Amino acid sequence: MRIILAENYEIMSKKAAGFIAAQVYTKPDSVLGLATGSTPVGVYDNLIDWHKKGYLSFKDCITVNLDEYCGLSADHPQSYAYFMNEKLFRHIDIKPENTHIPDGLNDDADAVCAAYDRLIESLGGIDLQLLGIGNNGHIGFNEPDKYFRMDTGKVDLTLSTIKANSRFFEREEDVPRQAYTMGIRPIVQAKQVIMVVSGKQKAEIIYESLFGPVTPMVPASILQIVQNLVVCGDADALSIIAEKHPQSVEFV
Ligand code: GLP
Repeated sequence: MRIILAENYEIMSKKAAGFIAAQVYTKPDSVLGLATGSTPVGVYDNLIDWHKKGYLSFKDCITVNLDEYCGLSADHPQSYAYFMNEKLFRHIDIKPENTHIPDGLNDDADAVCAAYDRLIESLGGIDLQLLGIGNNGHIGFNEPDKYFRMDTGKVDLTLSTIKANSRFFEREEDVPRQAYTMGIRPIVQAKQVIMVVSGKQKAEIIYESLFGPVTPMVPASILQIVQNLVVCGDADALSIIAEKHPQSVEFV
C-alpha cells in the first residue's frame, strides 16, 4: 500500500490522474473501473485537460462504473450515468458503447447483477479501479454490513449515505433508497486500485479503513489486502494517518 499525501485537492487530483494516464499509456485498451461522488471530479478534470491537449486517448479503453441509483434513468441529472457523461465521457474520445454502468431503471435485479458480473468477468477483470470513500467507509455502494458483498447486488442505502448524498438532490426524500453496486470481489481483484480522499470529514474513516481491523462494518478496510493500492489524499483527509503513522506516508 502506498499513501500519498498532497498539500491540497488540486495536487491530489493531478497525482491520482497521473496513475490513470500511465495505465492508459501502457495499455491503451485498459479496463478502467470508475467512481462517482465529488472527490474524483478533479481527477476527471485533469484527464479531460490532457486529452484536449492531445496527450491522452481513451479510444480503446473500456470502463465499468461502480454503481447506480435504482429508479433513476440515465438522463436524470442525479443519476451516475448522467454524472459520468457530464464529468468525463462527453469530453473525451471514449466510445459510448465501451462505457458500462448498471441500468438503474431495470427492476430485474437478478438479471442486472448477474449481467454486470458476467461483463466484468468477460473483460478479464479491471486493470485500474478508481475509488472514493463514503463517510461511513462505503466503497461503491457497499455499505457497512455483517458480511462483505462479493458480487454485484441491489442494496439498501444507509441513512448516513442518504443524508450525505442529499446535498445533490433538491430534497432528502428525493434520494433513491436503493442502488446497484459492484461487489467487493472485482474491486480487490483489480490489478491496481487508486483511492482518492479529500477533506477533514474523511480523516477518521480513512484512518480506520487503512489501520483498523478488516471488517465488513468498514467496507473500505478490505482494501488492506490489496497489494497494489495507492491512496491519494489531501492533507486534511490524511491528517490522522500523518500524525499516527508518519513513516507510512509519502509526500508529493
Ligand atoms: C457515493 C458513491 C461512492 C463515493 C461516495 C463519496 O456514495 N457511491 O462511490 O465514494 O459517494 O462521495 P464524495 O466523494 O462526494 O464524498
